[in-house]
Amino acid sequence: MRHAIQNLPGSQIRLVANAGLGRSDVLPFWFGESDEVTPEAIRQAAAESLARGETFYSHNLGLPELRAAIASYCSAAHGAVDVDRVAVTSSGVTGLMLAMQLLLDAGDEVVAVVPVWPNLTAQPAILGARVTRVSLRPVDGAWRLDLQELLAAVTPATRMLLVNSPNNPTGWTLSHAEQQLLLDHCRRTGTWIVADEVYERIHFEGGEAGRPAAPSFLDISSADDRLVVVGSFSKSFLMTGWRLGWLVLPRGQMDAMGKLLEFNSSCAPVFVQRGGLAALAMADTLVPDLVARLKGCRDTLLDGLLVLPGVQVAKPVAGLYAYFRIVGEDDSLACAQRLVAEHGLGLAPGAAFGEEGEGWLRWCFASRDPARLLEGLNRLRGALRL
Ligand SMILES: Cc1ncc(COP(=O)(O)O)c(C=O)c1O
Repeated sequence: MRHAIQNLPGSQIRLVANAGLGRSDVLPFWFGESDEVTPEAIRQAAAESLARGETFYSHNLGLPELRAAIASYCSAAHGAVDVDRVAVTSSGVTGLMLAMQLLLDAGDEVVAVVPVWPNLTAQPAILGARVTRVSLRPVDGAWRLDLQELLAAVTPATRMLLVNSPNNPTGWTLSHAEQQLLLDHCRRTGTWIVADEVYERIHFEGGEAGRPAAPSFLDISSADDRLVVVGSFSKSFLMTGWRLGWLVLPRGQMDAMGKLLEFNSSCAPVFVQRGGLAALAMADTLVPDLVARLKGCRDTLLDGLLVLPGVQVAKPVAGLYAYFRIVGEDDSLACAQRLVAEHGLGLAPGAAFGEEGEGWLRWCFASRDPARLLEGLNRLRGALRL
């Protein structure tokens, strides 16, 4: 086995979740998904595709009609994105890995904004790249990036800047002004930006300039910039189990991406792609409805957390998570394990998102029934002896 693989840390979220497996009394909020089933029309489209016998490979880059639909979905929010720049992938995480395979050699330097979903920093490590971490910090009740610190970390020796906005786990979201400064800087240093924007639609403040999404690098870049944007059906369409995502690439990279797709998955399953097409056809109603429901979930949970003594939390403007800490609880894994074992409350330990996350806990608030969140809050109050 390669060294890089031997050294990969296991998932601390799984460590906690495994302790609660098979226990029907545990309320699980540890994973990044809603308990709502994918809408019927999307499931129907996939079922019809299978019934028609669509059981064969598709083009490596995806069904042409799905690529076109993704291009117009992106264009409607972010200005023209040409279909030739879109590749369909078997999930967002696969799209990220493909982007890393496209761009990174062993020994390359990657700068990542953290804390972040651990897969993002594990993937460059798998390929033998070195990851330098620049940490967000909580300031006056919100997560902030020290832009100067990040700009200083990105030099002509930096191959890739990896940034996830809106961020999992904090909900921190880049502004257009910050994106512009980063893009300008990376143009000067010749650094690639890989922007994980899988939560861009789950944005609760209406976006800048009335857009239906969080600020995106697509809003301010050109087709020639060294920029890869990663999208996913998972979060905005309640399709986590389907494994469907996409990449927006600069001009000139698609032939290479087609080859990489061939050697990784060859293509996403056709019936899954049909589900994606049905999802995009409903996006104008489905996504705003979902975001309104998620906003209600966020408010229910945050209203409950903000009044708890000894709990420190920033209200997230985007994403699916409340990221909070309990004063005096510095070992997040031990704390999360105790919450499961003694109180039936399933949260993700902050240490899962890197050492910067130690002492924090992540609670996914995406739930069909906000009463579950209220019951979870009750259990947390019990744990705090309130
Ligand atoms: C920041 C981030 N990026 C990418 C993904 C991948 O999503 P998927 O592989 O389900 O498309 C996730 C999922 O949790 C995530 O949190």
